[in-house]
Amino acid sequence: MTLVAPDAPAAPQESNDSGIQSYLVTFIIRRFDPETDTEPRWVDYDVEMYPTDRVLDALHRIKWDVDGTLSFRRSCAHGICGSDAMRINGRNRLACKTLIKDLDISKPIYVEAIKGLPLEKDLIVDMDPFFESFRDVQPFLQANSTPEPGKERIQSITDRAVYDDTTKCILCAACTSSCPVFWTDGQYFGPAAIVNAHRFIFDSRDDAGDVRLDILNDKEGVWRCRTTFNCTEACPRGIEITKAIAEVKQAVLRS
Ligand code: SF4
Ligand code: F3S
Ligand code: FES
Repeated sequence: MTLVAPDAPAAPQESNDSGIQSYLVTFIIRRFDPETDTEPRWVDYDVEMYPTDRVLDALHRIKWDVDGTLSFRRSCAHGICGSDAMRINGRNRLACKTLIKDLDISKPIYVEAIKGLPLEKDLIVDMDPFFESFRDVQPFLQANSTPEPGKERIQSITDRAVYDDTTKCILCAACTSSCPVFWTDGQYFGPAAIVNAHRFIFDSRDDAGDVRLDILNDKEGVWRCRTTFNCTEACPRGIEITKAIAEVKQAVLRS
């Protein structure tokens, strides 16, 4: 646990019934209200937190107890829906998976929206360009044959293992919005779209791999990747994204 001994601003507070010490933690959140602000502004909040709390809990406390206008997306609160990706201390993470005990609370914790997508309000960005790229790679099974009535499409364990890693994507955009190529030109498909193309390109039951490889051989496709690994480091599901992109590049060359 990297909980740092409490200097100000992480002043120790009361213990709860279980004897766990709470701390006063400062969050500095980049706020933006399109109706009143011309530029985003940083706003400080001191919040009482337990080491086992998540950054999402801090956002809830601020929204529910301090300022109801604070805007952010979240749904499952358990790392499944992918809706609360944000930059926490300069690194893309899911707020619901980021524990206070894993942050250095002797310093303020900076929270801001993910980069590279249009800012709508506070921690909310417009995800449309992200999902457009996702849709463009045709992320669904396309098979020319039909299974026998009442039967499944059979796939061996070995064939299933080839694309197992890329099935884990929750479309949180942490990868794409951490990619410097995507920041500099919003035209690049981005790692998340390539991950989801990979999931079907390497599925032995699918027959549209060549179509997807053709799409990704485009000037906005896989060749834009400069192997910077930001995406792999950002992925909350631990997907080896850069490796998946390299496999798609090799498949394009073979096709
Ligand atoms: Fe999120 Fe990882 Fe999927 Fe990218 S590959 S969208 S970081 S889950
Ligand atoms: Fe971007 Fe990941 Fe490639 S961060 S440059 S897609 S390795
Ligand atoms: Fe669903 Fe965090 S709220 S992943």
